[in-house]
Amino acid sequence: MLYALVLLLAYLIGSIPSGLIVGKAFYGIDIRQHGSGNLGGTNTFRTLGKKAGITVTLADILKGTLVIFLPMIFGIDLHPLIAGVFAVLGHMFPIFAGFRGGKAVATSGGVLLGYEPLLFVLLVIVFLISLKFSKYVSLSSILAGLFAVIYSLFTGDLPLILVAAALAFFVIIRHRTNIKRIINKTEPKVKWI
Ligand code: G3P
Repeated sequence: MLYALVLLLAYLIGSIPSGLIVGKAFYGIDIRQHGSGNLGGTNTFRTLGKKAGITVTLADILKGTLVIFLPMIFGIDLHPLIAGVFAVLGHMFPIFAGFRGGKAVATSGGVLLGYEPLLFVLLVIVFLISLKFSKYVSLSSILAGLFAVIYSLFTGDLPLILVAAALAFFVIIRHRTNIKRIINKTEPKVKWI
């Protein structure tokens, strides 16, 4: 029973729609009606600027990191990465925002930060190098997701391998429209890197 409650709590924490809260509370807008329509840090950045974008990205990372500690806090032997997957599901399909959430990137990053901090640092480096050369946030997110899978294979940690693969799958699936736009050369590029 406690296991189910912890997983529910992880889903609910993941469901906290930071982008919607920041957009509505401070700017009076639903960012899902602007830019790419995504409820994430990138679209917040694009729509509301640097301060809001960074705030939402950090909040979305924090959701993932926090849930990794739930099994320990509740004293159960649930694998922390399972709680992490539920947080990412909440982020993608938030009960508090009509199940229209983000693309799994920041919250997945937060999960990996809580579980394997070195991997998170490497993911940020892969993301930034890709962003520097491609200027596509979406492509850089996908490449970081794939890097997490490759890294996990070297750890021999089966739960990490399975969850990294699941998270990369979520990231790729959620970026379907971005992938089409990259192919059509209509995906927006960032200018600030
Ligand atoms: O984190 C999501 C990012 O990879 C793409 O966001 O708004 O450009 O679709 P967006």
